[in-house]
Amino acid sequence: MLSRETSDYLASKTLFKHCFIFNELDSTNNEAMKSTYPHYSLIIAEKQYAGKGRSGRKWVSDEGNLYFSIVLPPMPVEQLLPLNISTGYAICDALRNYADVSLKWPNDIVFNNKKLGGILIETKFSGNILEKIVLGIGINVNQLDFSHDIKEIATSLAIITERQYRTEEILWQILNNFEKNYTDLLKKRIDIIEKWCKYSMNFGKMIKIHLDGEKMELIEKGITDKGELIAVDHFGNERKIVLGDIYL
Ligand code: BTN
Repeated sequence: MLSRETSDYLASKTLFKHCFIFNELDSTNNEAMKSTYPHYSLIIAEKQYAGKGRSGRKWVSDEGNLYFSIVLPPMPVEQLLPLNISTGYAICDALRNYADVSLKWPNDIVFNNKKLGGILIETKFSGNILEKIVLGIGINVNQLDFSHDIKEIATSLAIITERQYRTEEILWQILNNFEKNYTDLLKKRIDIIEKWCKYSMNFGKMIKIHLDGEKMELIEKGITDKGELIAVDHFGNERKIVLGDIYL
């Protein structure tokens, strides 16, 4: 389904001069970690048999959806969370051409409390030096049915809009948006706070979050320019959260 057309379009129009398309991989992130791929390579798979999600979870990766990873050159470590946020924004902005999707911190793409996309950033260090960043994106595009364990929490563009898509169409839009946001981020020309407020599903609302092994209820107030979530507890104390999972 993904074609030669994709590589040609990307090479002529975008940062992504090296595009590698596979029928099946364990995980596009694993593949992209191999040292053979130059910066800005794009690794795409039609399906994955060991797709990885955040926090060690698996990412169910049947055919018909989008699974890809981008190899990025090193950047200051403190820019990784903003990279996460701005990539989530880029995806959301592209998918909003089709459905009213939102963001859930730090980078889930959701519709009506169900998840249809996610981002997994992995890094390779040599000692203290960040050598390589792999940014993996998974979007449920055409899947109509999910296994019973994730049925209640997963959705797809096809389920939301009741039509099927050419995955290339979605991929190109995401990559164009990604490139714009990524180059703005490198030039420090992006306001992630404003972008977050535009698309966050929980802005100003109560969230339930796993923090330090505890489930807490907080009110989401926004994010900092470093990408940390700002939330307030019942006593009015403000917290800045770097790591945590909001559960739906
Ligand atoms: C999440 O848990 O929200 C992150 C999901 C990221 C899934 C994508 S699919 C392409 C890339 N390869 C992987 O193994 N994972 C990411």
